[in-house]
Amino acid sequence: MAVTAEPKLDAHRLRRDFAVFDELVNGKPVAFLDSAASTQKPRQVLDAMRDFYEHSYANVHRGVYRLAERATAGYEGGRAKVAGFLNAPSEREVIFTRGATEALNLVAYAWGLDNLGPGDVVVVTDLEHHSSFVPWQYVAGRTGAAFRAIPIDESGELDLSALEEIERAGRVKILASNYVSNTLGTVNPVQQLGSWAHERGAIMVVDAAQAAPHRQVDVQALDCDFLAVSAHKMCGPTGVGALWGRRELLEEMAPFNLGGEMIRSVSMERTTWNELPYKFEAGTPAIAEAVGFGAAVDYVSGVGLEAIERHERELVEYTLGQLAELPWVETYGPSPERRAGIVSLNVEGVHPHDVAQLLDWEGVAVRAGHHCTQPLMTKLGVAATVRASFYLYSVPGEVDRLVAGLHKAKKSLG
Ligand SMILES: Cc1ncc(COP(=O)(O)O)c(C=O)c1O
Repeated sequence: MAVTAEPKLDAHRLRRDFAVFDELVNGKPVAFLDSAASTQKPRQVLDAMRDFYEHSYANVHRGVYRLAERATAGYEGGRAKVAGFLNAPSEREVIFTRGATEALNLVAYAWGLDNLGPGDVVVVTDLEHHSSFVPWQYVAGRTGAAFRAIPIDESGELDLSALEEIERAGRVKILASNYVSNTLGTVNPVQQLGSWAHERGAIMVVDAAQAAPHRQVDVQALDCDFLAVSAHKMCGPTGVGALWGRRELLEEMAPFNLGGEMIRSVSMERTTWNELPYKFEAGTPAIAEAVGFGAAVDYVSGVGLEAIERHERELVEYTLGQLAELPWVETYGPSPERRAGIVSLNVEGVHPHDVAQLLDWEGVAVRAGHHCTQPLMTKLGVAATVRASFYLYSVPGEVDRLVAGLHKAKKSLG
């Protein structure tokens, strides 16, 4: 009988790529459990950026000299890697942005302002990050469209039965959803939501900022229309992300920012736009960061998305198992097999910020707050949570240190 091995990663070995794990915080090695906010960077990504700056740097696209050609090749090479990573049908459909926030704003402004009006409905979810909630709320307000959110159920999963009621508000034109919730880790049925949207002639926008680093994301399999990702959440640098969009839609859309590479010709009478993807890349882009993004794609792909997903699931199972033993800890969100590597919790009688402060004294880095999901906090009936989030370099020993720190917080502050 053929035995297929489950993909597995060796987090202890991978940690050697990250110099930060040699750092001491308050005299202790750092237990970095804040990867949902931003991930640490391996030397492979840092080396690629340093090498680019030292040997190939110039501004892109405009120069005819050799260095500019090398710089352009590096920048466009980053795009090709991101396109491959997302299984985009064409590199031209991949637009570099400053991050997922700018990618989502691009769609809201450049598509939303010209395509929405009174009688239309914009649908988001209660799980949205502000970067996927507020642009649509704002553009719906500007255009007179209705704005609705798919609610969550008890376990923090989307309650799709509400779609029937939502649809009664008018013509659904857009459905915007995160693939993975940055607060609860919920993995949302974006493919199903996309089919529902398409059946109504609407478009589907996926915020994959928390998905692409942790599981395979394939824009063709998802059959969505736009998808946003961010480099800094997947071992890449800050200041760069990408929007993938369906070519027909991108071609029709007006530009978002004006100036620089997005221009084809300018006269007093008229200005025309460059072709895709440059039409949406105004000004000098984040060049070395695009190279770093490509290196991050190589690194994460080399480890393997399936192995990363599995590793994080094991860590979540382990964490939730430990926390279930503590009646004074409340956790939020679905069961481990239905979420990514994120655990939100609260300690009875202790403010989340105090919990995070005490954990910091123990060298454990977690986030406390609303995690840019205030509508979700309202639904959960809390002002804030403590969030521990994992990545390919996270190890069970860090979970043990988290749990020990929670005991200390309860004992000294609760
Ligand atoms: C689900 C989600 N969407 C969007 C963003 C914003 O991403 P960026 O920092 O690239 O703008 C984040 C970052 O926390 C996020 O978690």
